[in-house]
Formats: sequence, structure tokens, C-alpha cells
Amino acid sequence: MNILGIETSCDETSAAVLQEGRIRSNVISSQLVHARFGGVVPELASREHERLIVMIVEEALQEANIQKNDLDIIAATAGPGLIGAVMVGLSFAQGLAYALQKPLVPVNHIEAHIFSAFIEDPEGTPPPQGPFISLTVSGGHTLLCLVRQDLSYTVLGRTIDDAAGEAFDKTGKMLGLDYPAGPHIDRLAATGNPAFHDFPRALTSHSKTSRSFKGNLDFSFSGLKTSVRNYLSNHSEEFIQEHLHDIAASIQEAIISVLVEKAVYAALRNNVASISIAGGVSANRGLRERMEAACRHYGIELHVPRTIYSTDNAAMIATMAQLRISRGVTELNNYDVAPFAAF
Ligand code: KG4
Ligand code: ZN
Repeated sequence: MNILGIETSCDETSAAVLQEGRIRSNVISSQLVHARFGGVVPELASREHERLIVMIVEEALQEANIQKNDLDIIAATAGPGLIGAVMVGLSFAQGLAYALQKPLVPVNHIEAHIFSAFIEDPEGTPPPQGPFISLTVSGGHTLLCLVRQDLSYTVLGRTIDDAAGEAFDKTGKMLGLDYPAGPHIDRLAATGNPAFHDFPRALTSHSKTSRSFKGNLDFSFSGLKTSVRNYLSNHSEEFIQEHLHDIAASIQEAIISVLVEKAVYAALRNNVASISIAGGVSANRGLRERMEAACRHYGIELHVPRTIYSTDNAAMIATMAQLRISRGVTELNNYDVAPFAAF
């Protein structure tokens, strides 16, 4: 079976071919037009997807060495995401599926991140066996789920304000870093002191305010943003530049320690032996190291996708479609599916 996956929910235009369960191609084009605006500009994102979609799909087919007529299933992100951006990929997929008279599988982008643990990857860690805790951390979402073997899942916690990636991007912008700031903070933090400054960690055992942990698996990062803004305005530009690595490391520490604490607590409380991390922020080296150490300590197995499968990609869209088909859950031939913006 040949599945074409298409992803256009934000600022990556991506197409992938999954052939008999193997990823044959996964072409990703990251839009550079947004960098100078300090964030993704929705209208520009849609236009870029429109400009690139045909080329990217052709490239994915070519790399996989198959023709359009060899496709059995077309899968595309139907949401959540920037509605105009989603519409470009989904409409393209609808048109292609209809023209080829092949089934269309609409995919929920967040579910695709959660189940990216199952992307076939000989170079990655094997998928979790049995139920697992999924931590999905991206620019738009921070979600902790209990995933069962039958692919059903329960949301245990989510952010009540900013997403973890947003916390990286917004605090990074305050430090004068380009968008997306997550990878820049990651790089600076590698040689910085994470204990340089104690930024707030809301809803954790480390929290100093009334918004403390008490088993709460929700997340809150807006206080961190305010705290970083106040900290920077109380220090000279010279001091900030001199300690840029330390400040970046301290911000990163405040974000990742919350993620690790909650994911591990969720695994222990639900008696689950595996954790899987997904979404753009799971590419963070500090998070990977800290999560590995915590999992080792508690005897929990950790699944981390390779970076190309952490950030937005179409391989996870094709994989999600295949998982749904293999479990018999799908709305095949649903050419008139509507895009959606929220999870
Ligand atoms: O999953 P993703 O590619 O797109 C969304 O669905 O949002 O995630 C993008 C987010 C951005 O906020 C970006 O700053 C963050 O992932 N990110 C990172 C790293 N790489 C990407 N954050 C921290 N460290 C990284 N290495
Ligand atoms: Zn994403």
C-alpha cells in the first residue's frame, strides 16, 4: 500500500510517501519568510504553501520512485493549525484524491505528533510496547496524554496559557534571538549555567506561588515570560550580553524541568513503563538529556523520535493514516472534510 502524506498546518510544507509501512520519502521545506517578522505570518504561510505544494509533492513521489497513479491513499492534515495554511494542503489532497478516485484520510496534526512514536525508523528507537505517556510539545501545543494499545488516549494535562515552544520563542525574542528561538536557546544553553537565575516553574513542586503542583498535570508558562521580561529590564544590556548563555540556560531549565517532572509523575501515577516525547520542542538537547536521566532513574523506557520526525513533517501524517486504517478507524472517501483550527 502506498500512502501519500501532506502536512501544511504551520510554516513547514511537507510531503511523504509510506510504502508497505516504510518511509520512502519525507520532503520538508521550512519557510524562511517569517524570520524577519519574529513569528509566523498566517497569510504569508498560506501563500508559501500554495507556491510550494505541487513541487514538494512531486519531489516526494520522485524520491520514492512512484507515480501518482501508484498511490492508494492520500492523507493530509485537516487541523489544528493556521486555517489558511491547513486549507492549502487539505484542498490539494482532496483534489488529488478525487482526481485519482482514491480514498482521502484527514489527519489530526496533534494526534500525528502523539503517534509519531510509531514512525518506522531503523535509525531511531523502537516504538513503545504497551501503554505509554506521550508528551507533545510544539509551538502551539503542550499536551500530556495516556495512550493505550488500541490507539485510544486520554488527555491528562495541557497548557492553560502559552505552549512550551511559545515560551522558548517569546523569551528568546526578548533576548534578541531570531524566530524560532527554541533551537537558538538550545545552542546557547549548551555552554551556559542553568542555575544562574531561578526563573519560575508554575504548577510544580518547585513553584513558590499558590499555583503549586498538588498532582496537577496542566502547564503554565505565561508567568515565566513576565519574569524574564522583568529580569531583562532590571539588568544592563552589557550584563545580558555577557551572561547570554547563562540566561538562556536558566530559561531552558525552567521550561524543561517542568516538562520532565510532569511526564515522569504521569507515568508513575498511571503505572506506565514508557514515555514518548514529540513535537518541535522534543528536539531540545537539554530536554532529551534530562528526560533520559529521569527515566533511567525510575526505570522508565523513553522513546524519542529523530529530530526530522520531532518537528512538523508529513511522515507522521502518512503514519497516522496507516495506523487508523490498520485499526479500521477512518472516514475514507470523505472528500468534503472541512479543515479545523483548534484541537
Ligand atoms: O512541532 P513544531 O515544528 O511546529 C508546531 O506544530 O508548532 O514545533 C515548533 C516549535 C517552535 O516553538 C520551536 O522554537 C520549537 O518547536 N523548537 C525547539 C527546538 N527546535 C524546535 N525548542 C527548543 N529547542 C529546540 N532544539
Ligand atoms: Zn506540530
